[in-house]
Amino acid sequence: MNLSTLKKRLAQQGVPLPLSEEIDILCEKSIIGKKTLSNRLVIQPMEGCDGTFDGKPDTLTYRRYQRFAKGGAALIWFEATAILNEGRANPRQLYINDNTLDSFKNIVSEIKKTGLRENGFEPLVICQLTHSGRYSKPDGKSAELIAYNNPLFEKEKPIDNSKIVSDDYLRALEDKFGIAASMAERAGFDGADIKCCHRYLLCELLSAFKRKGRYGGEFENRTRLYLNALKSAKASTSSDFIITSRLNVYDGFPYPYGFGVKNDGSLTPDTAEPERLIKILYNEIGLKLLNITMGNPYVNPHVNRPFDKGPYDPPENPLAGVERMMTLTKQVRKGAPLLTVIASGFSYLRESSPYLAAGAVKSGVCDLAGFGREAFAYPDWAKDIVKNGEMRANKCCITCSKCSLLMRAGAVAGCPVRDGEVYMPIFREKVMK
Ligand SMILES: Cc1cc2nc3c(=O)[nH]c(=O)nc-3n(C[C@H](O)[C@H](O)[C@H](O)COP(=O)(O)O)c2cc1C
Ligand code: SF4
Repeated sequence: MNLSTLKKRLAQQGVPLPLSEEIDILCEKSIIGKKTLSNRLVIQPMEGCDGTFDGKPDTLTYRRYQRFAKGGAALIWFEATAILNEGRANPRQLYINDNTLDSFKNIVSEIKKTGLRENGFEPLVICQLTHSGRYSKPDGKSAELIAYNNPLFEKEKPIDNSKIVSDDYLRALEDKFGIAASMAERAGFDGADIKCCHRYLLCELLSAFKRKGRYGGEFENRTRLYLNALKSAKASTSSDFIITSRLNVYDGFPYPYGFGVKNDGSLTPDTAEPERLIKILYNEIGLKLLNITMGNPYVNPHVNRPFDKGPYDPPENPLAGVERMMTLTKQVRKGAPLLTVIASGFSYLRESSPYLAAGAVKSGVCDLAGFGREAFAYPDWAKDIVKNGEMRANKCCITCSKCSLLMRAGAVAGCPVRDGEVYMPIFREKVMK
């Protein structure tokens, strides 16, 4: 989508996006705590589901991160990495523990070496720590652990109450996030993300309005695990280590099943609670970096990653989804203006995405621009922006959802379109068949 097509489509749809044709701002450095980022471009966490069964990075994992490291983004947000076996989203999800720690040390060191050799700087690498909650499948079949029953997701197949995690279970998890963060520091990561997005366990708790006990009901209870896990991670790591989070600020499900929505049963965003939470993250927990996202990749992926082709026809123009990402990100950060914020959802714009990224930084939506699917399709997108001032249309992600289909089929995930030699044969075998 070139810039003039994009402008036409925006005008037709009446969707405002903050575009800037001057993109030098993306090449500027930025500082997070004691660390410096060489540019404002970030690779979002992109799970390849290709680790070993015991949770170590395997051949395709190394290949992916080598491509990312060569690609020139200043920050690589390493994919969802389980902190417990029962919270793994698939049998090949990465899993950090005493037995796998050395393999994480190795991959982080390889990323840094490659980045330095290829681009003259070591990218920062943040480890995303997760418990997959209702999407746990450690042995390949559903073994859901839920915060509460949700008829919107469970429809005709309610999950029995024995799968609702107890308060004791959640209390113990607070410390386990601290232990995992300390391991991430020992592995050489620059920081750890206490993942609270996309309706995995911590994120699901944010909307546990009807749950009884210490982790449900009032805001203080629904955010208890999240905030205590962050505190535990802070207490377990050094002051140089970045404790951060990828946070859903809008779930896109009606009350009482969604965070960041009005309590009138509509899907209208209400940023009061996300804003309140972000103020606490900044003022009380001391977070310096926050990665903002939305939606649920399983149930409403058009909110999470606007697409042209996907599992259903989206109920809105994808540009409206991109606009929601920008508007809500700008709104929720208002109470903590000094927090460094990463926005999501740029890949939909293909070769015009640098203009949105630059415009978003200039207009105060975010400080850093995070690209997800684009990194699968076009791993050196950041280098092309920084060195050539543009992205190449014929290398861009076409938002066709094939990578997600691979994931849903229980296969390894990558881009069959732009990285076809590796992933098209797998797509043919696992999805088309
Ligand atoms: C195959 C695939 C794997 C993903 N894995 C993760 C993940 O591990 N952690 C995460 O927070 N988001 C994950 N995401 C979401 C992306 O990070 C990103 O938020 C989303 O794709 C929207 O950004 P984009 O429009 O730049 O692609 C994944 C998305 C896809 C398609
Ligand atoms: S398969 Fe490739 S082109 Fe299609 S959405 Fe995924 S990354 Fe983009």
